[in-house]
Amino acid sequence: MRGKVAYITGGSKGIGFAVAQSLLAQGLRVAISSRSIEAAEEAKERLGGGDNILALESDVRSYKSEQTAIEQVNHTFGQLDVLIANAGVGHFAPINELSADQWKEVIDVNLTGVFHSVKASLKSLEESKGYIITIASLAGTNFFAGGAAYNASKFGLVGFTQAVMLDVRHQGIKVSTIMPGSVSTEFNQRTPTDADAWKIQPEDIGQIVVDLLKMNPRTLPSKVEVRPSRPPKK
Ligand SMILES: NC(=O)c1ccc[n+]([C@@H]2O[C@H](COP(=O)([O-])OP(=O)(O)OC[C@H]3O[C@@H](n4cnc5c(N)ncnc54)[C@H](OP(=O)(O)O)[C@@H]3O)[C@@H](O)[C@H]2O)c1
Repeated sequence: MRGKVAYITGGSKGIGFAVAQSLLAQGLRVAISSRSIEAAEEAKERLGGGDNILALESDVRSYKSEQTAIEQVNHTFGQLDVLIANAGVGHFAPINELSADQWKEVIDVNLTGVFHSVKASLKSLEESKGYIITIASLAGTNFFAGGAAYNASKFGLVGFTQAVMLDVRHQGIKVSTIMPGSVSTEFNQRTPTDADAWKIQPEDIGQIVVDLLKMNPRTLPSKVEVRPSRPPKK
């Protein structure tokens, strides 16, 4: 693990930030992105700063921007071993209230954005025999009212990730999708409180990423569902 390089899309907060913390603790060098360079730089400082962390501005909705981000990672660290395609957004509304702009943003970020990050990093990952991990959701297998856009993006992302896994495993690239249930983050304009203690904590997803990277090379947990062990009873 030590000295390997990971690029985490959407590393300014939440799950992406916690994954960066976990990987740094294992001796990896990490690049974290945000739509805002100020937010990425501020996250870099909260991670401890230093030469092992690269803060990047990139909006995953732009393929060109993701290509530039990967170029910057290669330029700074000389390699790319792990892509964590994490950046995501949510709009939750019944179909008659969901706007076309909201639909487009969710699909563009959560699905097409991951395609951009994966496509832009493939050549580097072929060279390093690397690992792609997408952060999907249990919403990629469980549908719910008000979830039309989010469910569509995450069902799509699970299918995309599994197909890519079959495409590239013979080139030595591992691909997994992590599908968390409720994680205590600021996702969808929430503010985590003590009442969220039952939820998965972001660092728990960091631990799962580390466990996947440490798995024996012959074995690939390709789809990892993660749920709170004791959710409130309905
Ligand atoms: N929280 C949950 O319960 C939960 C459960 C299952 C799956 N997930 C998934 O986990 C992932 C991370 O969510 P989170 O809970 O950590 O949410 P969060 O705290 O809101 O963090 C989202 C991250 O994505 C970045 N981002 C958003 N749009 C972006 C774009 N267009 N380009 C680049 N970066 C972008 C944000 O960066 P900036 O705002 O700084 O640009 C931020 O770093 C998402 O894919 C989400 O769907 C979350």
